[in-house]
Order: sequence, then C-alpha cells, then structure tokens
Amino acid sequence: MKMPVVETQPLLTVNNVQKLYAINRGCQDVNFSLYPGEVLGIVGESGSGKSTLLNCLSGQAAPNSGDIIYHTRAGEDLNIYDINEAKRRLLMRSEFGIVKQHPRDGLRMRVSAGANIGERLMAVGDRHYGHIRDVASNWLEQVEIDAERVDHLPSEFSGGMQQRLQIARVLATHPRLVLMDEPTGGLDVSVQAKILDLIRTLVADLNLSVIMVTHDLAVARLLCHRLIVMQKSRVVESGLTDQILDDPQHAYTQLLVSSVLTP
Ligand SMILES: Nc1ncnc2c1ncn2[C@@H]1O[C@H](COP(=O)(O)OP(=O)(O)O)[C@@H](O)[C@H]1O
Ligand SMILES: [Mg+2]
Repeated sequence: MKMPVVETQPLLTVNNVQKLYAINRGCQDVNFSLYPGEVLGIVGESGSGKSTLLNCLSGQAAPNSGDIIYHTRAGEDLNIYDINEAKRRLLMRSEFGIVKQHPRDGLRMRVSAGANIGERLMAVGDRHYGHIRDVASNWLEQVEIDAERVDHLPSEFSGGMQQRLQIARVLATHPRLVLMDEPTGGLDVSVQAKILDLIRTLVADLNLSVIMVTHDLAVARLLCHRLIVMQKSRVVESGLTDQILDDPQHAYTQLLVSSVLTP
C-alpha cells in the first residue's frame, strides 16, 4: 500500500510519552505523528500497553511525561494535558470520537437508539428536535440499522447492532480523530467481519483519521495504513502496514506475524 505524499500538518504529534503503572507496565518512549486521513494501528500482544497509550491519547489518563499535541480545527496546536479539564472535555467532545470495545461502555443502555445519537448532537450544540431526529435516523441507516428502530433501546439489539449504533453515535458529531480500542474484540467472529467492513467503508467515505488498537493482525492488515508494534510497554517497530507484516524487522514482530500465519 502506497501512502500519498502528505504535506499538511500532523493532526496529532506524540513526543516521548510515558505512562507507567510499574516497571515496563504501561507505555514509554512513544513517538509518532498522525496525519489527516491516516489510519494508524497499535498492535502487540495482551498487556503490551496498547490501551494505556490509547487512554493517554483520549484524554483519560495523563502521561507521567511527554507531550501529546493536537492540531485543532481552529488551527491551534494544543498540548491536551496542558489545558484544564473542562477545556479538554470540550475538545474531546467536539473533535475526538472514542469507540469502546464493548458497546455497553459507549452507549446509554436506558435510552433509545435515536436518543443515543441525539444526545451527542446536543452535546455539541444542536437543539432542534426535528433535525436531531432526522440526523439520528440517517445515521442508523448509514450503519445499516433500520431507521424504524430509532425508538428502540440498545438492549433490544444484537451485539453487532449495538456496536454499529455506538459507531453511529460517535461519528454523528463529525469527529476529526477517531480512537478505537479493539472495536470488534467483544463480538462473535461472524459478526466481526461485517463491522470491519462497515468501519472500512466509513473511514474511506468520511476520510477519517483513526488510531485503532488491535491484537488482531488481520484487522490491522485490512484497515490500517501504518502500524506501531508494542511489546512490554515499548514501541519495537513502526512503519507501513504491508512492510511490517510482510517483512518484519524486529524479532518480536517476526514472532507475532509467524504465530498468526502458522496454524
Ligand atoms: N489502571 C491500571 N493500573 C495498574 N496497572 C495497569 C492499569 N492499566 C494497565 N495496567 C497494566 O499495564 C500493562 C499494560 O496494560 P494495557 O495497556 O491494558 O495493555 P494492552 O491493552 O496492550 O493489553 C499491563 O501489565 C496492565 O496490567
Ligand atoms: Mg487493551
């Protein structure tokens, strides 16, 4: 896969980020930039620090050191932990979208599908009920949920549908940066493929910038332009997806790739 020549400014720049819970537990020495329209995968086995890093990026866990610089819609470069919490929350709400592994963590289970989307729209300032309902119905269709189910509770949906609803809820406010932690990890294998297809289509159609954690290299291959590979809290390799998966340089990545390819 050939990357386009990108001359714009990075959307996100991560400099020497460290968040450690114990020796080699968490993430450290993390450096990368994400450009608009890129899908970056964070891969590595369980416990390597992928979620810790993503939680730092999503404003949920302040690093012990290092900088996370986000280039805002207004053209400002903000260190997301240098601003106060209210401002960070507002930034996250208006420019970031976070898709959780388990739909129940990203949805309000006691309100309707439409309200799940509507609530997000209201949080960014939409107050017109008719408009909110139209947008919500439209998003349900975009994620292949029958718009007639707009008043149904998420609990009436299957796991796959709940995940599609969560994706609609997140994308409805047009986030510039979408962060996903194992978005298909909690689903049956047969359902995973459909969700991955949906994500792939939406990412391309909406030209989203995405950082996605996955331990599944097939998912990484399908969706990500670039990868960073983590082992025991450190990034051991990074580069274009095909390059890393077809010709891994680091012994750990070689092991990771061969353990997937060898039955
Ligand atoms: N809140 C926390 N408190 C203490 N240790 C944590 C916390 N979150 C993660 N860890 C530890 O940090 C390491 C990396 O965890 P995590 O980032 O969840 O890995 P991954 O997402 O790659 O499976 C693990 O050893 C985990 O036990
Ligand atoms: Mg994790």
